[in-house]
Amino acid sequence: MPRKSKPAQAMEALHGESVRILIPRESIQKRILEMGKQIRADFPSEHLHLVGVLKGAVFFLSDLARAIPGDISFDMIAVSSYGKNSQSSGQVKLTRDLDSSIEGRIVIVVEDILDTGLTLRYLLRVFEQRKPKQLRVAVLLDKPERRVVSVQADYVGFRIPNEFVVGYGLDYAERYRNLPDVAVLTLEEDGTTQGLGK
Ligand code: IMP
Repeated sequence: MPRKSKPAQAMEALHGESVRILIPRESIQKRILEMGKQIRADFPSEHLHLVGVLKGAVFFLSDLARAIPGDISFDMIAVSSYGKNSQSSGQVKLTRDLDSSIEGRIVIVVEDILDTGLTLRYLLRVFEQRKPKQLRVAVLLDKPERRVVSVQADYVGFRIPNEFVVGYGLDYAERYRNLPDVAVLTLEEDGTTQGLGK
């Protein structure tokens, strides 16, 4: 008989780091189904073009795309902002562009997390110049306390406190993306616990 999975148990943390589950996988999936329905309710019969921001949004894009009934397509874009640190450099650069034009399309930008807002502001400026019919934003996570520029998402999965999170696509130095839950990451140094990304 297969063993029961333990959804509340995070993957083993590495290198003196610890992870504490903030949003379990079941809640993520449930919320994404609601978001998909809400998006389709706002655009009942239109073709929707989703643009996922690599790499963090890869799982969110694939789940959200399947949660929106009807006619959709998707593309991916990549930007560099955080590098290998947990702190934003404030610099945003396009490192992979879209495969196809977004002119005249209803575009939904799909991001993993809205933090300072610098990445999204940059992307919205780039996309607006390309004349989409409408431009909307869906984020799985929103950390409003960290915002340094005024930018908002139209669809938000979860508002979270000012903690550094990993899992479900989000990384720390490219690790933990494959954790199915969203978890708070802390470093344990000399017996003390340090927060990241504040
Ligand atoms: P922003 O430009 O500061 O809004 O940051 C957006 C990007 O920073 C996200 O797409 C993530 O890649 C990264 N990021 C922000 N907060 C976190 C976090 O708590 N964990 C992991 N990555 C984060």
